[in-house]
Amino acid sequence: MKNLFKLSDLETQEINNIIDEAIEFKQGKEFTELQGKKVVNLFFESSTRTHYSFIKAEQNLGMVETNFNAQASSVKKGEGLYDTIKTFEALEFDALVIRHPQNNYFEQLKTINIPMLNGGDGTGNHPTQSLLDLMTIKEEFKSFKGLKVTIVGDIRHSRVAHTNIEVMKRLGIEVFISGPEEFNDGSSTYIPFEQAVKEMDVIMLLRVQYERHGYQMTLTKDQYLENYGMTMKRVNEMKPTSIIMHPAPFNRKTEIDDDVVECSKSRIFPQMTNGVYVRMAVLKRAFEV
Ligand code: CP
Repeated sequence: MKNLFKLSDLETQEINNIIDEAIEFKQGKEFTELQGKKVVNLFFESSTRTHYSFIKAEQNLGMVETNFNAQASSVKKGEGLYDTIKTFEALEFDALVIRHPQNNYFEQLKTINIPMLNGGDGTGNHPTQSLLDLMTIKEEFKSFKGLKVTIVGDIRHSRVAHTNIEVMKRLGIEVFISGPEEFNDGSSTYIPFEQAVKEMDVIMLLRVQYERHGYQMTLTKDQYLENYGMTMKRVNEMKPTSIIMHPAPFNRKTEIDDDVVECSKSRIFPQMTNGVYVRMAVLKRAFEV
């Protein structure tokens, strides 16, 4: 049994293995050993892509999925996370996928004896998002070493940025951050956005996470788009081979303009497709000894 809480727990070779396996799943590899295994998806925080691509991955593997509804559960009577998870272990489910707003929520689950996969914890980690981002980059460029990536925007509140910065550096990618100074948490070298647009192989945009701010941003949406948003004018300044990524959901006309979302350099929807195959690969890994 193998949990997946943080990518920093995994050796670089294991990360490469998951990405390669995900690519094989995308190419049609069959795997039947998880057929009938019972998995519960527990999303204590809203999700479309992660939740439904886990469901699709589970269906592709022949697993039987149950979707926990926190609003209609004993969480509403005050039951805590540990007791909820321990209950699903007692009910003899085979694996759990968990998204929770608390950073490092999994630290309290160390004694649970069924595999758990992290679908995102607060502003901390989003391992499967990072793996699907890496898969998308590998499909595009064939390898990681020497690539230049700038992550732009709400770095401070982004579990995607924090996960990607650590793992991308390990894989030999040069990682920069850019965007409004109020979101610069010093987690990598800062580069002016106009320079990043011209020099990077990958521009990875982030959603402005208004719901996590607890304060009024100094920039209006129009000012954000003008100064730090990806517009077609900026797309046309990028290198011919470079691409745009975004974990989504995105704020149209803030960090990304409408006509950029599906432009030829955008890999936003291929990222979502790759999420299914990456999640198949991590579900397979969860049951390995
Ligand atoms: N990228 C991502 O995690 O999207 P969801 O919040 O919709 O799962």
